[in-house]
Amino acid sequence: MRLNNRAPTLEELMSALMNTYSRLPVSFTHGSGSYLYDTDGREYLDGLSGIAVTNLGHAHPRVTEAVRAQSERFLHCSNIYHIDVQERAGALLTERASMDRVFFGNSGAEANEAAIKLARLHAHERGIEKPQIVVLEGAFHGRTLATLTASGNRKIQAGFEPLVSGFIRAPRNDLEALASIAERNQDVAALLLEPVQGESGIHPLDAEYLAGAAALCKDRGWLLIFDEVQSGNGRTGSYFFHQQLDLKPDIVTTAKGLGNGVPVGACLARGEAAETFAPGHHGSTYGGNPLACAAATAVLETLGEDTLMDRAGPISDAIVTSFDASLEDDRCVVATRRAGLMIGMELAADCAALVPAALEAGLLINVTAGRTIRLLPPLVMSDEQANTLGAGLATVVSRWWADEARLAGAA
Ligand SMILES: Cc1ncc(COP(=O)(O)O)c(C=O)c1O
Repeated sequence: MRLNNRAPTLEELMSALMNTYSRLPVSFTHGSGSYLYDTDGREYLDGLSGIAVTNLGHAHPRVTEAVRAQSERFLHCSNIYHIDVQERAGALLTERASMDRVFFGNSGAEANEAAIKLARLHAHERGIEKPQIVVLEGAFHGRTLATLTASGNRKIQAGFEPLVSGFIRAPRNDLEALASIAERNQDVAALLLEPVQGESGIHPLDAEYLAGAAALCKDRGWLLIFDEVQSGNGRTGSYFFHQQLDLKPDIVTTAKGLGNGVPVGACLARGEAAETFAPGHHGSTYGGNPLACAAATAVLETLGEDTLMDRAGPISDAIVTSFDASLEDDRCVVATRRAGLMIGMELAADCAALVPAALEAGLLINVTAGRTIRLLPPLVMSDEQANTLGAGLATVVSRWWADEARLAGAA
């Protein structure tokens, strides 16, 4: 809504939007690599990548060119026709994932919905009338009704009851609990988990737990579903995190970094699971559309030809080393957890205030689960930028911790 000839303020721009986000007082006009620029031309070092989306950095030339070229051809045609660029993206992604087939959707939640439907259908075909899916405490799988039910966070479920039936919650990293669920339930169809939990504060699940869970799934005939919406697409140093552990899930979901900013999600399956859906079982008007698949193809080709994924470890090390070296009082950090470029620093107190403080300092970060700083920087970040991010963040945290101490003293 343009009220007069001046540029609308941020509040005016926001006024038509539903109140679903607490937005920070900044608006960006463009980005390049690891930087975003606001309406005043100020530069911000992006330690968040749109929450694990722009893994190749902003305005990556290859993605930009692919989107431009595809938009000159055509943006969309229905899935009732063959779409060459979708075939190409599908072939590249299934090869990367060592999977047999893929269904393309538009988001992480939709990718997980597809996986949940697939698991249920697979179970029904095997005579399980009321299939159950085991999900973990601390999980985040999306905001649709089924995926928020699968998520292990009461906050995002409250008010949206009745929730969807058919999920059993288990503690994370607890193989005995899984075995006990298996003993008590004959109707389990699948285990759905994030190998690295993101929203709950960056918790890479224990390698022994994942291997044990995979063995149990095989033994019991449960489908093993990995949600790699956040941890996929090169973010942890391999295309998918589970590939570092040499695990073979039946289904993998991903989204976020797959389009480097163009909405696209994917549910991949192998073996029997890959043959479960037949025409009419599932679909999406936009899923796998030519524009999204052109972007995904550019991302997959870039990550395939480049050594970019090898940068995840060194960038992560540089950030954490600079952070630790510049922190004035390390008692404020309870734990640092990471898997490549998924970095969580759990602090000793609630620290949401760090997000606007970092913004003031020209750094884009996130705080999740109340007291964990979450960093998800792009694979194109240089060592120098990584050092700047780590040291700059340490300054912001040191100032915040000194304030916390002062407030505690005053209380
Ligand atoms: C692990 C995981 N799964 C699913 C989702 C949902 O993805 P989307 O927001 O694209 O629906 C997210 C989003 O943060 C996620 O981190």
